[in-house]
Amino acid sequence: MDYLPLFFKLQTQHCLLVGGGQVAYRKAELLLAAGASLTVVAPDICEPLLALIAKHRSTKYLRRFQLQDLNKTSLVVCATDDEAVNANVASLAGERCLPVNVVDNAALSTVIFPAIIDRSPVIIAASTGGKSPVLTRKIREMLEALIPANYGNLATFLGDKRLQLKQRFPIANERRKIVEAFLTSPGKSFAEAGDYQAADEYLIPESVAQLSAGEVYLVGAGPGDPDLLTLRALQLMQQADVVLYDNLVSDAVLSRVRRDSVKEYVGKIGRAEFTCQETINDKLVRLAKAGHRVLRLKGGDPFIFGRGGEELESLVAESIPFQVVPGITSASGCSAYAGIPLTHRDYSQSVRFVTGHPKQGQVDLAWREFAHKNQTIVFYMGLGGLKEICRQLIAHGRAPSTPIALVSKGTTPDQKTVVGDLETIVSIVEKEHIARPTLIIVGEVVALRATLSP
Ligand SMILES: C[S@@+](CC[C@H](N)C(=O)[O-])C[C@H]1O[C@@H](n2cnc3c(N)ncnc32)[C@H](O)[C@@H]1O
Repeated sequence: MDYLPLFFKLQTQHCLLVGGGQVAYRKAELLLAAGASLTVVAPDICEPLLALIAKHRSTKYLRRFQLQDLNKTSLVVCATDDEAVNANVASLAGERCLPVNVVDNAALSTVIFPAIIDRSPVIIAASTGGKSPVLTRKIREMLEALIPANYGNLATFLGDKRLQLKQRFPIANERRKIVEAFLTSPGKSFAEAGDYQAADEYLIPESVAQLSAGEVYLVGAGPGDPDLLTLRALQLMQQADVVLYDNLVSDAVLSRVRRDSVKEYVGKIGRAEFTCQETINDKLVRLAKAGHRVLRLKGGDPFIFGRGGEELESLVAESIPFQVVPGITSASGCSAYAGIPLTHRDYSQSVRFVTGHPKQGQVDLAWREFAHKNQTIVFYMGLGGLKEICRQLIAHGRAPSTPIALVSKGTTPDQKTVVGDLETIVSIVEKEHIARPTLIIVGEVVALRATLSP
């Protein structure tokens, strides 16, 4: 992080603005809107700025900047087109440890103005650290579209209720649950519309017991790229108190989970500890019974080779409420990012997802059914059994020239795709380093990668 975002309370603070043109005028507007008391120093001051100064009874000096202008100042903004003046003001302010902004000059500034989305009291600030004003504007446009215009009313309502909630529900976790439940209730729309009386009806739950009930969110985290998370997954990731995640959940995905939640790795491979399925099932039950909202975050889709069904069975047995959120399974993610459509009118009319996990060197599958052309077979967990997979497919009638692709760490920045045919792929893989997790795609559609790869 090059800059630490902070919100500066300017009411009762004194700001110095050096410069009298249009740029200075825009900064003056902003500083005055934030409640600053303002002094403007410039040999010439444009008409709109003079009018603004008069309206807000600010101070002006029609002369060049002098050292004593820095006295009793909390923030210095320099908006002249004279580089020597800007550099001099910045240096003198720096000597006095005063925060200084030189407009459009990040190098001379110790603070920079962000793009602002103002839904007071909700204020959102965005910055690219001075790298690209165009991108900053784009981010602002996106946020403007995303945050409803009257969102500030919502914050005002919740702010007004804060003390009352605190007195009635002294436990912070209970209060958080109340506000989260309110934000998904019709009360939210009433509050946004400014109808606080109607909103009030939805704020306090009927019973406190309702609040102490835990639940489990079984959520698919997708194959790795955090942009492939669903909106529902992101919502629940922000809501959970405890997170149990497996080895397929990427760091990039994990960084989108609520910052202050307790995160526990319960993967079965990749680290020193090995968490067996029964332990995970028991943990889910125990944590939910203790009143936590537990996020069970799994790579890909929880119901595709994810053992999600088993985890739900233990929850059902204990009558624990749960929600399931599907994720993009690695077959979809890897094939899309590798340019391999899993079906195609001309080449493949069906697709099978199978596990290629070998047991005692054998991959025990219905090989005869895989012999037909015009079908795509996706092997999950097949890297260790690759040789056996190719041998069996050929032995059961698939042409040795059938294309095959291995996609390693699909959809992440480290994605690697290796292509060959059933006869050659093993020797190709021996020469390459293929990291886990790896997905194997077999079928004529693999050849389309040559033209469809992004
Ligand atoms: C236990 S299965 C879990 C599958 C997961 N539930 C899904 O829907 O993708 C693990 C296997 O999924 C595949 N896999 C998961 N994520 C992957 C990724 N990012 N790239 C390649 N293969 C992946 C690999 O074949 C791996 O061995």
